[in-house]
Amino acid sequence: MRQKVTKAIFPVAGLGTRFLPATKSIPKEIMTLVDRPLIQYAIDEARAAGIKEFIFVTSRGKGALEDYFDINPVLEQALRKAGKDALLETLKATNMESGAIAYIRQHKALGLGHAVWCARRLISNEPFAVILPDDVIAADTPVLQQMVEAFEETGDGSAMVAAMEVPKEKTSAYGVLDVDEDMGSLVRVKGMVEKPKAEDAPSNLAVIGRYILTPKVLQNINKVKGGAGGEIQLTDAIAEEIAKERNVYGYRFRGQRFDCGSKAGFLQATVAFGMAREDLRDEFTTYLEEMMSLRKAAQ
Ligand code: UTP
Repeated sequence: MRQKVTKAIFPVAGLGTRFLPATKSIPKEIMTLVDRPLIQYAIDEARAAGIKEFIFVTSRGKGALEDYFDINPVLEQALRKAGKDALLETLKATNMESGAIAYIRQHKALGLGHAVWCARRLISNEPFAVILPDDVIAADTPVLQQMVEAFEETGDGSAMVAAMEVPKEKTSAYGVLDVDEDMGSLVRVKGMVEKPKAEDAPSNLAVIGRYILTPKVLQNINKVKGGAGGEIQLTDAIAEEIAKERNVYGYRFRGQRFDCGSKAGFLQATVAFGMAREDLRDEFTTYLEEMMSLRKAAQ
């Protein structure tokens, strides 16, 4: 019988230095796009894909993240009393089932591969998802759901990474795929390189923060030494699968990805998600149009 993907790891133990000073006291994942923290978008995407267990790899200073998932009876009671039913429903939609969340500590930010490895004891012999909440993807069908469907279709239980075409000069910011066979939305991969210079990049197909991995990849992390930037890279552990002659797939997702780990990406996402919201669209679009015409007039 094929195994279902029911667990997801959310590595949130990074230092978030690109958002200092905010991240001095606020976890990056709690920063809000319109009115929801980044982590809520990630949780909603995971739920849509059938995930039942949510494993957070956290670190010092991430208390606000843990608090966010607690039920807030005082607030719920106040909203109920005030008859604010819509807000009450919004709040309730963020509540998590008891026992569905686990927190594991990464004591030192040794890299994404290491963060995933820290959760190894909560993963038994089954495939699992990894979601990086700072990659926010707007999509009609949530991207992890697209991937779980593709994973079930391949039927061979091989690791899969979300992939997206990027301009060649940007490859040094990503893990990049060396493509063996291009089958359209799926590509079979023969190699992966973390943050290659444009001239060394094997393609312009970059890995984005959604993965479906196998316990074998976790075992590979045991052997991975510090890679690019001295960090224990998840890319290297996945590439090890290929070295062992096991399949690895890239999945070209349908959706628009925003790099909310960077300031420019976060601002772009704010504009896109603001414009997509029915309750804000008119006012916000008018404001943006005014801004653009003022800018043009000043030029
Ligand atoms: P980033 O590369 O964005 O690093 O990590 P960062 O620390 O979050 O942010 P900057 O670069 O300092 O601004 C990608 C993802 O991997 C997690 C991060 O929390 C983020 O979700 N991560 C990274 C860990 O959990 N542990 C690590 O040691 C490194």
